[in-house]
Amino acid sequence: MDSPLSAISLLLLLLLSLFSAAHSSTLGVQYISKLLQIQDRERAPPTLQIAAARAVLHRLLPSHSSAFEFRIVSKEKCGGEGACFIINNHPSSYKYGAPEILISGVTGVEVLAGLHWYLKYWCGSHISWKKTGGAQLFSIPQSGSLPRVQDSGILVKRSVPWNYYQNAVTSSYTFAWWDWERWEQEIDWMALQGINLPLAFTGQETIWRKVFRQKFNITNSDLDDFFGGPAFLAWSRMGNLHGWGGPLPESWFLEQLTLQKKILARMYELGMTPVLPAFSGNVPAALKDIFPSAKITRLGNWFSVKSNPKWCCTYLLDATDPLFVEIGRTFIEEQLKEYGRTSHIYNCDTFDENTPPVDDPGYISSLGAAIFSGMKSGDENATWLMQGWLFSYDPFWRPPQMKVISIVFF
Ligand SMILES: *[C@@H]1O[C@H](CO)[C@@H](O)[C@H](O)[C@H]1NC(C)=O
Ligand SMILES: *[C@@H]1O[C@H](CO)[C@@H](O)[C@H](O)[C@H]1NC(C)=O
Repeated sequence: MDSPLSAISLLLLLLLSLFSAAHSSTLGVQYISKLLQIQDRERAPPTLQIAAARAVLHRLLPSHSSAFEFRIVSKEKCGGEGACFIINNHPSSYKYGAPEILISGVTGVEVLAGLHWYLKYWCGSHISWKKTGGAQLFSIPQSGSLPRVQDSGILVKRSVPWNYYQNAVTSSYTFAWWDWERWEQEIDWMALQGINLPLAFTGQETIWRKVFRQKFNITNSDLDDFFGGPAFLAWSRMGNLHGWGGPLPESWFLEQLTLQKKILARMYELGMTPVLPAFSGNVPAALKDIFPSAKITRLGNWFSVKSNPKWCCTYLLDATDPLFVEIGRTFIEEQLKEYGRTSHIYNCDTFDENTPPVDDPGYISSLGAAIFSGMKSGDENATWLMQGWLFSYDPFWRPPQMKVISIVFF
């Protein structure tokens, strides 16, 4: 099996301490192992995961609800490290009306990935996004005549600990107007595909509003100029624009927070690791008025209409300013308070299509360190997940700049 770190680096960049290449890979593996242990310990109880998985089956294939039995098993059943699912003929399948197929998995996601695997490879069915056909289940034999697998069963191991899903912009390109019913379908689909590391970005403006208003005295009208409208949040979150398409209606804040709580609860019930957002340094313009000595830089124009400063050129808090870690910490703490738990992985993509104001590797390094300190001071077990888009998009990022943003101390 691949080492967890090399596997993950294919997909995304988890920022870990890099003192030297050799040393870092050991440290990285240790850090990831510790994180996996914490996540295993904090996972929803097996009965809850089974109930959540059974509910997915019921929504997908109600006619076959009693044809499958699901079980959560320990990692030891996978024959070594890592997670897996196991498909067996059900021991009582010879009895009339008894379940036919038994699917065991280390988490609810593994169980459902096993169900999908069985439906795909044993029954010739197809489950995709709604846009590309949705669930095509007509080839599945009726309940009572499901194909049997070999007597020894089938064990499929997960080759990497996490399967990641979404880009930071998906929230606006795709999910902007989704209600719970649509989200539920998507989370079902995620679990069937074995996705266990999805971004969970919904409702973050509600948390930001609490943080900025209650802790930093920023008013609602100042925040109207900071957040984008509902369909443009991905870009205001990343500091590409501000105020465009806004202000957010008052109803949005409560609705989105309520939606996020449902999304998170379902992801946790299925045994997933939802990734929460973290502070990147993007601040409302009004922060300058309240903290006149704060070090704040105005970034350049992204693609705002007519380069109008009403929408363009957001404000970046300098990493060396003590406020940076304080805002970062408060944001993590407020999420913990609101959601009651975390999976300890936080996303923060700095400078997504925004060129950093200073080309000095020392500056980039201090920014990386401040972002991570903000996370760690709110959650001592925080891990930073970053997508690599900025590195391919902007020629600013040459090896020295890329390297230093990864030098983060824990
Ligand atoms: C925020 O407002 C409160 C109450 O009006 C005040 O006591 C506090 O000093 C203010 N904080 C800052 C940083 O301006
Ligand atoms: C961090 O993980 C350690 C175990 O590794 C645990 O004792 C501690 O409570 C965790 N902290 C938080 C905030 O979850």
